[in-house]
Amino acid sequence: KGMKKIIIAIDGPAGSGKSTTARLVAQKLGYIYIDTGAMYRALTLKVIELGINPNDESLITKIAENTKIELLYENGNLKVILDGKDVSEKIRSPEVTSLVSIVSAHPKLRDIMVKKQRELGRNGGVVMDGRDIGTVVFPDADLKIFMTADVRERAKRRQKELKAQGFDVEIEKLIKEIEERDKFDSTREIGPLKKADDAIEIDTTNLTIDEQVEIVLKKAYELINQN
Ligand code: DC
Repeated sequence: KGMKKIIIAIDGPAGSGKSTTARLVAQKLGYIYIDTGAMYRALTLKVIELGINPNDESLITKIAENTKIELLYENGNLKVILDGKDVSEKIRSPEVTSLVSIVSAHPKLRDIMVKKQRELGRNGGVVMDGRDIGTVVFPDADLKIFMTADVRERAKRRQKELKAQGFDVEIEKLIKEIEERDKFDSTREIGPLKKADDAIEIDTTNLTIDEQVEIVLKKAYELINQN
């Protein structure tokens, strides 16, 4: 029928529900889902494994130019392949999480990643989530969503995720970590976490995943069915 294939940008802080929502919205629409946080995480893992100083922007940039990051799907689950190796679990480790903000703040590295992300989304039919998708990567995205939630609720979600991976972490510690990462991500020079002026804000504190998905899908269908 030649239905319009739109670009959906979903941004927001850690634990706001954006990845889960983005993945399910993409599944419903038959779109591809690009988790840009996973791309920064994969590169951070490589930095750790190579023993590189996370502040060494020029070396990290050089490495990024020679790194292959693939996002694949298996039974609806995202698989992250770094230079041919499956790193889907490793990139969620507390060590990667604690360093990814530092690595991802380097402007020259962001240039490379943004280019890759534009490449992946250029044909439309894509849901991309991150921090700067609606502001930098696709400022002309058809639909922009900015997700938020109370920090305590986000910490609870993170705690549950970590528990499933076998890590028991106190809620107060997670709140502190999340606040620090938000602050770091929001105050960096290039591509900070920031709501685009034309983004629709969704506070997910008291929403179920189904409700979040419904809100985004409704907006998406309005745009897809236009004309
Ligand atoms: O969404 P996430 O928590 O997996 O993202 C991990 C980190 O990657 C986040 O703290 C900041 C960085 N990031 C970024 O700088 N730009 C993006 N578009 C996505 C993530």
